[in-house]
Amino acid sequence: MGLELDLTNVEKFLKIDYKKYDKKIKEIHQMIHNKTGLGNDYLGWIDLPYHYDKEELKRIESLKEKNKDLEVLVVIGIGGSYLGSKAGLEFVKKPFTKEKTEIIFAGHQLSGEYLYHLVEYLKDKNYAINVISKSGTTTEPAVAFRILKKEIEEKYGKAEAKNRIFVTTDKKRGALFTQATNEGYEKFIIPDSVGGRYSVLTAVGLLPFVFAGLDVKSMLEGAQKAFDDANSDDIKNNLAYQYALTRYLLNQENNKKIEMLINYEPKLNFFSEWWKQLFGESEGKENKGLFVASASFTTDLHSLGQYIQEGQRTLFETVLKVKNNDKDLSIPKDKDDLDELNYISNKSLSYVNNKALLGTMIAHVSGNVPNILLTIDKLDTYHFGYLVYFFEIACAMSAYLLEINPFNQPGVEAYKKNMFALLGKKGYENILK
Ligand code: PA5
Repeated sequence: MGLELDLTNVEKFLKIDYKKYDKKIKEIHQMIHNKTGLGNDYLGWIDLPYHYDKEELKRIESLKEKNKDLEVLVVIGIGGSYLGSKAGLEFVKKPFTKEKTEIIFAGHQLSGEYLYHLVEYLKDKNYAINVISKSGTTTEPAVAFRILKKEIEEKYGKAEAKNRIFVTTDKKRGALFTQATNEGYEKFIIPDSVGGRYSVLTAVGLLPFVFAGLDVKSMLEGAQKAFDDANSDDIKNNLAYQYALTRYLLNQENNKKIEMLINYEPKLNFFSEWWKQLFGESEGKENKGLFVASASFTTDLHSLGQYIQEGQRTLFETVLKVKNNDKDLSIPKDKDDLDELNYISNKSLSYVNNKALLGTMIAHVSGNVPNILLTIDKLDTYHFGYLVYFFEIACAMSAYLLEINPFNQPGVEAYKKNMFALLGKKGYENILK
């Protein structure tokens, strides 16, 4: 019960010779597991499915127990300190359902309008804050935290506010670490060896998931299954490596520049955002890497679909199919049939959605867009955990195939320096001259 990979609609465009890459894949597998490759200090995520911090999880669960009546938990963070938990929550959340503790995100952009309305919204709510930043110095979450800290202290008083602020950060460094230590906030750790975008299975993801009432045990079981499935150095038995090699070859031999992750379920939209960050930040350096994009079908078939069918032939799609829906509806029969839909009456929406998937795939493939098909059984915490680990290990393999460090993001600094210079931060005076 993991994931299926179907490469039928790639093989028409590309000959994938596993034998030719067998040695290389084995070498990279060893490099990942023995932690000898580029960025090897950041491979702590590799065994998180089994070796997550169990003591911390217990502490998070008892913190949740103490705060079970919270109406809102504000989770402050950006990039890897935000997208994993947002993706996980959306993956399993029932649409249009009010959760006991609502999770609201902040600090993932700099919009004053957003924060103003959040502050207003929180005025009559029973709320707490979880601020997440590994470096502890990222501007967006730091600004949001400064504002919300003032608000929560004004509302509850400094002593009670202290019980309502939970900090997830580095073990011993950074401005947020210092603040948390000085103020006596409850602290959770992002291990040194785990970079932001690989941190979903640390307190970064676990705390918001527990507060939202997610089945964290089953998420970890899904990740463990993905770990076991990806533990073979033989590409023939390792779907994550098959996926990694296929996208690498589509780029190198088929001249594809763009990979689009396609879903047919709106619950997967934020999973795509997480996936884009994972691959975009890990691979897009040294003028290498696929540009990663996403689309939600059938919605985007009425927008980007035109480009995919007939625009520049530089892209391929990775379609994430969900086999079973938790809930579904059938199309009713109508005696007048004025909308001419009786031909699909009594059919379920998932039946129609699947035909849309099939029809689109046939059209795009005949329009010279290779399609990788990934299928999971359903949208639950188990499969979220599975996919997270599947893509993390596939991403490490992909980046190492390109001979780049998957775990740094030097390019992210460029905008920051300019922004600091424009804001007049000390030490950045000469940046724009
Ligand atoms: O993946 C990464 O490392 C980044 O996207 C970071 O998560 C992001 O920049 C936020 O960093 P921090 O947690 O230090 O505030």
